[in-house]
Amino acid sequence: MNKTIRKIAVAAGFAAAVVLPLSGMAAEVPVSSAEVTGSTPAQLKVSNANVFNRLLKKEKDPNAAPWEDGIHDPENEATHALQPPKVAYEGWPRTPFGNHVDWVKALNDGLINPRYDRVDPTVEPLVMDLDIVRPVRASVPDVVFPHKPHTQWLHCSNCHPKIFIPQKGANQINMSAILLGKKCGVCHGKVAFPITTKSCKKCHSKPKPADWKPPLSEASVKNPWR
Ligand code: HEC
Ligand code: HEC
Ligand code: HEC
Repeated sequence: MNKTIRKIAVAAGFAAAVVLPLSGMAAEVPVSSAEVTGSTPAQLKVSNANVFNRLLKKEKDPNAAPWEDGIHDPENEATHALQPPKVAYEGWPRTPFGNHVDWVKALNDGLINPRYDRVDPTVEPLVMDLDIVRPVRASVPDVVFPHKPHTQWLHCSNCHPKIFIPQKGANQINMSAILLGKKCGVCHGKVAFPITTKSCKKCHSKPKPADWKPPLSEASVKNPWR
C-alpha cells in the first residue's frame, strides 16, 4: 500500500468502517420460480439481473414508464406524477447495457451531481484513483478494476471488507460467482452495468502480454514417478 492510499484509507475511517447493507442486494434476483407460478422456463421474466444466460428472457423495455414497469401501481395517481426515465435520460450519453445510460460519463460530464451523503449535502466523495489489475488464467483479456469510477459514488465501506478484502489478489473472483450476484455481481447486473456478451471488455480491458501462454494444467505436466 503506498502512502497516499494509506492516508485515504485512514481518512475513510477504515478500522471503524460502517458496512452498509449492500450485500443484502445480492440476495434475490427477481425471477419468478416455475414451481410457484407453474410457468414454463420460456415464460421466466428477468428484470435488471444478468441476462448472460440465453435461456432467460430479456426485459422488453429497460426504461418503461413508471406506470408500465410492473413495479409501480398504475392505478395510483401519484405514479403518473413521476418523470418517465425516457424523458429524464433524453440526450444523455448512451451504452448498450442495462438502462442504456453511461452513468460514468454522465457523472464526469457534470450532467448529474448525486449527493454523496444522505443527510449532509456538503459532503464530497473520497475519490481514489487506483487501478487493480487481475491477471486471468484463461485466454480472455485481464481484468482491470478501477477504483476511481467506483469511489466517485461509493464509500470504501460499500466494498471493504465485506465484499472484498482490501489487498491486491487476496480475493478469489470468478465469473460464476459474479453471475450468481456475488463479488462484482453484487452490483453489476443490478445497479451497475450487467454482464452481457457485449460488456465483457468493460472489465476485461487489458490485452494479454504478447508472450502470454495458457498455464499448463496439472494433467499436462509429466508424471515425475514414471
Ligand atoms: C466497488 C468496490 C470497491 C470500493 C468502493 C473500494 N474498493 Fe478498494 N478494492 C476493491 C477491489 C476489487 C480490490 C482488489 C482486491 C483483489 O485484488 O483481491 C481493492 C483493493 C484495495 C486495496 C489494496 C491495494 C493493493 O495494492 O493491495 C486498498 C488499499 C483499497 N482497495 C482501498 C480502498 C479505499 C481506501 C477505498 C475508498 C476510498 C476503496 N478501496 C473503495 C474494490 C473496492
Ligand atoms: C463486472 C466485470 C466483469 C465483466 C462484465 C465480465 N467479467 Fe469475466 N471476470 C471478471 C473478474 C473480476 C474475473 C476474475 C479474474 C481473476 O481471476 O481474478 C473474471 C474471470 C473471467 C474468466 C476466467 C474464468 C473464471 O470464471 O474466472 C473468464 C473466462 C471470463 N471472465 C470471461 C468473461 C466473459 C466471456 C465475459 C462477457 C460475457 C465477462 N467475463 C464479463 C470480471 C468481469
Ligand atoms: C458496490 C457496487 C459495485 C461493485 C461490488 C463493483 N462495482 Fe463496478 N461499478 C459500480 C458502479 C455503480 C459503477 C458505475 C455505473 C456503471 O458504469 O454502470 C461501476 C462501474 C464499473 C466499471 C466502468 C468504468 C467505466 O469507465 O465505464 C468497471 C470497469 C467496473 N465497474 C468493474 C468492476 C469490477 C471488475 C468489479 C469486481 C472486482 C466491480 N466493478 C465491482 C458498482 C460496483
